[in-house]
Amino acid sequence: MTIEKPLVETLTEADAAEELAFLAAELARHDALYHAKDAPEISDADYDALKRRNEAIEARFPELVRDDSPSRKVGAAPSGIFQQIVHARPMLSLDNTFSDEDVRDFVHSVYRFLGVLPDDSIAFTAEPKIDGLSMSLRYENGKLVGAATRGDGTTGENVTANIRTIKEIPQTLPSGVPEIVEVRGEVYMGKSDFLALNEQMTALGRQTYVNPRNTAAGSLRQLDPTVTATRKLRFFAYAWGEMSDMPADTQLGMVKTFETWGFPVNPLMQRFTSIEAIIAHYRNIGLERPDLDYDIDGVVYKVDRLDLQARLGFRSRSPRWATAHKFPAEQAFTTVEKIDIQVGRTGALTPVARLTPITVGGVVVTNATLHNADYIEGIGNNGERIREPDHDIRIGDTVIVQRAGDVIPQVLDVVMEKRESGSVRYEFPKICPVCGSHAVRERNEKTGKLDSVTRCTGGFVCRAQAVEHLKHFVSRNAFDIEGLGAKQVDFFFEAEDEKLWIKTAPDIFTLEKRQGESALTKLENIDGFGKVSVRKLYDAINGRRQVSLQRFIYALGIRHVGETTAKLLARHYGSYTAFADAMQTAGDLSGEGWSDLNSIDGIGEVVARAIVEFYKEPRNLEVVGRLLKEVTPQDAETPIVSSSPVVGKTVVFTGSLEKMTRDEAKAKAESLGAKVAGSVSKKTDIVVAGPGAGSKLEKARELGVQTMDEDEWIALIGG
Ligand code: IVH
Repeated sequence: MTIEKPLVETLTEADAAEELAFLAAELARHDALYHAKDAPEISDADYDALKRRNEAIEARFPELVRDDSPSRKVGAAPSGIFQQIVHARPMLSLDNTFSDEDVRDFVHSVYRFLGVLPDDSIAFTAEPKIDGLSMSLRYENGKLVGAATRGDGTTGENVTANIRTIKEIPQTLPSGVPEIVEVRGEVYMGKSDFLALNEQMTALGRQTYVNPRNTAAGSLRQLDPTVTATRKLRFFAYAWGEMSDMPADTQLGMVKTFETWGFPVNPLMQRFTSIEAIIAHYRNIGLERPDLDYDIDGVVYKVDRLDLQARLGFRSRSPRWATAHKFPAEQAFTTVEKIDIQVGRTGALTPVARLTPITVGGVVVTNATLHNADYIEGIGNNGERIREPDHDIRIGDTVIVQRAGDVIPQVLDVVMEKRESGSVRYEFPKICPVCGSHAVRERNEKTGKLDSVTRCTGGFVCRAQAVEHLKHFVSRNAFDIEGLGAKQVDFFFEAEDEKLWIKTAPDIFTLEKRQGESALTKLENIDGFGKVSVRKLYDAINGRRQVSLQRFIYALGIRHVGETTAKLLARHYGSYTAFADAMQTAGDLSGEGWSDLNSIDGIGEVVARAIVEFYKEPRNLEVVGRLLKEVTPQDAETPIVSSSPVVGKTVVFTGSLEKMTRDEAKAKAESLGAKVAGSVSKKTDIVVAGPGAGSKLEKARELGVQTMDEDEWIALIGG
């Protein structure tokens, strides 16, 4: 509903004063709803309209500008309400496992990585995975000096004042603790406290909260710590960040130490050495789950010995030494109202079931992915049957949906007794619903099998592909441009005024320039973009004109090139010029460029081909060329270990290693700044050959590459 307001020009001074008072109060109320309660009542556009009206009235009656005028508070940015804290050590996440089989694989992978250890000799801890918010608490000389949320893992929000109101968190530690201590763990709200809070809300006639986790999050994001203090937040310590001294050498030892320092730790944490014992503990915790006064969504297993944890190290986002064994998903029945097709960045057509809304495990589910045409038919990724032959998914079917954690809900099966007699098989589209181009299933060159994905052949012509490409480009792990989310990308892509167009990535960086003279007036006149938000957007864009090579390559959106591959490429080639030049020549499949690309450990032929294809397409080169006029990819960082004798060297391991596993050798070499390749070429610096080495060793000798055995290698890198 919009209420017509009198034109500013027609207001009397008395009207103006009254309205300014109203606007000050109203905007302050919306600020509070937005920032403190995470529950805005109006859209950003309506909020901006109120602000603009306030400014217009003030412009006409400058003498009426109030001390508490919203125009004086422009600094309060939506997400900038808390200061940022850069974590001394990144806060990582955990890999998930879902079945006993996955757990066995995890344990075996630990043994495999470490090699040579006898069965059941590695101890693992098992403890509940608390469904709350992870928190890093920093103590210096025994005093709590800072508390930060996880954020993106590198940078979190400073919520120290709020954390100080949590009684379970010690403000000071006993004497004798290390000078720097960072204790990490989970802030959560007890189930009983959550229910009590909701009863109170109901009694006050206010809206109730959805679940303990969101309520805990909202309570921590209060600007006013006295509000946080009224919420009964709690804490479990289970990990650490920077420590100037290590008080124990096992996971369990560390947690026990935290307990003696006054931190609450979870009583269900135990240590085991056999897979069976770990899984039995998981089942027991599952049985206790309903009676616990806090929400948990699985059990976390961690290698107990810290020296082994150090050897295992990390993948890009998660440690190799831990995994979260999730509890089974929750299920419910509902009906498929229709099936929509979404077209992704690479043209993949994904069918989505629109469901009659249903609550599954406390969350309302309205959509479920149907993956692809085969999945609808009841056929899995490897051609195997995943449902009975006649259980294809149809519009109107009653289905079982499942939701596990944050994963997109799935349709598991069809309830055949409820299928209507007139129902018809779903026919998968043969043309792209967005651009009308043919949609085809490609044939895998190697296996000769049809790909499970149906793909739009429209390429750049397809609006959906272009838009999704842009969304990928600005996403968190790519250019990470704040203020340019999915909604804004849609807006700029569809904008009527050419000056506002963002059709390809380089357009993002010319947006400000294209607004001409009135750089700050053009965009801000559009609903939803205030003066401040426009300036912030331009600043965010300009802040990304320098970007890491890894992010740059990832952002290009080359098929099959995810973050890990982008990182491998960045490390291998070092600079964008080196990478692009190499990709130009790699098109010659008999040349050095192609074999060099394929020699990168972790890059297979399918990926290599996709990269080469990308660089063959003139349109891609044109877009990248324009992008490079605006943006400078930074050369890949050489690791900090400048003293290592193998920095920048390309190493190939071949034959069997006896002192460490191949994975460990590779991780170690990389941590010392070496590049590990899978095959020997002129660019190889060192070949480490163990017993049984064959053609790679021969080739090394032929090319005059330095070779050594495992002991010599260990001596070289200093153990
Ligand atoms: S260990 C390097 N232990 O789960 C790994 N995490 O999915 C550090 N979490 O961000 C995490 N209970 O917020 C660990 N007992 C537990 C946990 C736990 C909950 C959360 C934590 C983390 C997320 C990872």
